[in-house]
Amino acid sequence: MLDKVRDLQQQIEHYTITSPEQLEQFRMRFISRKGVITELFEQLKLVPPADRRAVGLELNALKNAAQTQFEQFSQLMDEQQTMTGTAPPIDLTLPTLPNLTGTQHPLSLVRQRIIQIFERIGFNVADGPEIESDWYNFGALNFPDNHPARDMQDTFFVEKAAYGGTDMLLRTHTSNVQIRLMERQSPPIRSIMPGRVYRNETISARAHCLFHQVEGIYIDRNVGFKDLKDTLYHFVKELFEPGTQIRFRPSYFPFTEPSAEIDISCQICGGKGCNICKHSGWVEIAGSGMVDPQVIANCGIDPEEYTGFAFGMGIERITQLKYVVNDLRLYTENDVRFLRQFEGL
Ligand code: PHE
Repeated sequence: MLDKVRDLQQQIEHYTITSPEQLEQFRMRFISRKGVITELFEQLKLVPPADRRAVGLELNALKNAAQTQFEQFSQLMDEQQTMTGTAPPIDLTLPTLPNLTGTQHPLSLVRQRIIQIFERIGFNVADGPEIESDWYNFGALNFPDNHPARDMQDTFFVEKAAYGGTDMLLRTHTSNVQIRLMERQSPPIRSIMPGRVYRNETISARAHCLFHQVEGIYIDRNVGFKDLKDTLYHFVKELFEPGTQIRFRPSYFPFTEPSAEIDISCQICGGKGCNICKHSGWVEIAGSGMVDPQVIANCGIDPEEYTGFAFGMGIERITQLKYVVNDLRLYTENDVRFLRQFEGL
C-alpha cells in the first residue's frame, strides 16, 4: 500500500499538462471521487491496524499534494488562455457601477461664463469683503444719509460693538470693491467683481436675502458713454441667443450720472410677451452709468483727468433668463433633480 502511495506521489510531482483536456484528465485521475486516491482511502481499512496510522498520514499528504498541483495547473491554464485569446471574451455591455460625480451649480456656470466674456476684453477679476463699513457700501458711493437702502429693513447691520463702534453691515452690492480698487490703484482700472451680496428680504420665489452679483468698472482718460454701450452690447451678444435685442433705459443710481438700466428682449417668449417679461417683451438685466465725478474724487482720483463707467448685474437673474429658472429658492435648496439638469453644460 505504501509503495502505491509513493508511486502516485512521484507521478503527481512529475506530471505535466499542456491543454485543458489534460487538466481534466488529471482531475479525474487524482481528485475526483472515482479517482485513485479515493480508492486508496477505501482500501485503508484493509491495512493492518498497527500500520494504518502511518499509511493514513501519507495518504493525506498525497491528497493535499494532488490538490495543490491541480490548483497550480488550473492557474497555468487560465493564464495561457488569456494570453492566447481563447478565454471567454469580457462582456463590454455589462452595466458599470453608477458614477456619482457632482455637477457644477448653475450659478457657478453662469458666473464663470460672465467672467470669461469680460476677461477676453481686458477686464481682470477683483474681490473684497462681504462685511463692510457704511462708508465703502454707501458713503463713498454718494448715498445720502436718509437713503432708504440705509434702512434696517433693507440692509443687515452688524453689531457695532463687535467692530469697535463702527457701523458695519453685510454689503448690499459689490460696488464696495469698486471703491476699494479706486483707492488702491491708479487708473487705468478695468475690473469686474463677482460676489455674494445680502439684502433684508423675505425669502420667496422672487426675492432672497442672499444673492450674487457681478459688477464692473472701467476708469481711464476719455472713457465715455459710448464705451459703456459697446462693452455691454458685446457682453449681451456673447452671452445670449443670437438676435437678442438690447435697450438702455434712463434710470437713477446715487453713484452714476447719467445712469441707465439695460433691458434685453425676453429670452422666453422672444419679445412677444409672457409672464416672465410681464407681457412687455423686455427684461431688465443690469444697472449701469458713468461713475459720478464725486465718487471718483472720494477715492482720491482726479475727476477732471479721469472718467469711467460702471455696471452691475445679478447672476440669479441672468441664470433665470438663460435657463428659465422660475423660483429663486431652487438655487439654494440643493435638490439634485434640479442641479442634475445642468450636467455637462
Ligand atoms: N450697485 C447697483 C445695484 O446693486 C448696480 C449698479 C452698479 C448700477 C454699477 C450702476 C452701476 O443695484
